[in-house]
Amino acid sequence: MSLKPFTGRIRPAMTKPENAARQAYQKYYIGRDYEQVDLFRLLKNRYGISSAIYPGCYIQISPSFIFPDVAYIDSDKYAKKYFKSDSLVEIVRERKEYPEEPKVAFHGIDYREIIDGYQSKFDLLISKYAGFISEPCKPYLRAGGYLLVNNSHGDAGMASIDPDYQFIAVVHRTKGKYRISTASLEAYFVPKKDITVTRELLLDRQKGVGYTKTAALYLFQKVL
Ligand SMILES: C[S@@+](CC[C@H](N)C(=O)[O-])C[C@H]1O[C@@H](n2cnc3c(N)ncnc32)[C@H](O)[C@@H]1O
Repeated sequence: MSLKPFTGRIRPAMTKPENAARQAYQKYYIGRDYEQVDLFRLLKNRYGISSAIYPGCYIQISPSFIFPDVAYIDSDKYAKKYFKSDSLVEIVRERKEYPEEPKVAFHGIDYREIIDGYQSKFDLLISKYAGFISEPCKPYLRAGGYLLVNNSHGDAGMASIDPDYQFIAVVHRTKGKYRISTASLEAYFVPKKDITVTRELLLDRQKGVGYTKTAALYLFQKVL
């Protein structure tokens, strides 16, 4: 699915921050049927994931419904405000599918800044609609950890040419349901045009290149 750029933020001057955070989550994620809880559940069950880091998260708190330990990073001023209000963590407490107290950390910084103490800590790195994350945030993934990435800004293409990542599966969404597939992986990341895809080309384009076969999301594993 395509995600339109965010417009019309909830007006914070007129709404208490805790209500504004709930309203914003309702608008951007529940209202758009874009929480992806079933996808995170699939990933947990299939790969035993329990911790994740989500740079460029905005306020998508739903990974914490499934994974007990999640770190979020976003430099957006509304994301910072809404995370500060505690309402997002309250939503997690209401909807979490595990018994323990959730660990939810939020860092209101540029995701290219290194966070001390997170080296090789996480099972899953999430990169969706927020630029090139797979490379600068790779140190946060444990060896054998997973990268879930879409190609809206070219980050899936970037991971596909990164020798530190192995392409292991695709994620499709059919009739509202996510499905993980390992079929015909060699058919993905074949450019439509006769070009050589390089890191520099992708950084320059900022929106990826066209491929003959595509998926909603891609899964990579960090090479040991
Ligand atoms: C289009 S939103 C996508 C949000 C979320 N990933 C999703 O799929 O709903 C992009 C988010 O990435 C954040 N972002 C982009 N570049 C960033 C950077 N270098 N450091 C931190 N956050 C960044 C923006 O602030 C924004 O909240």
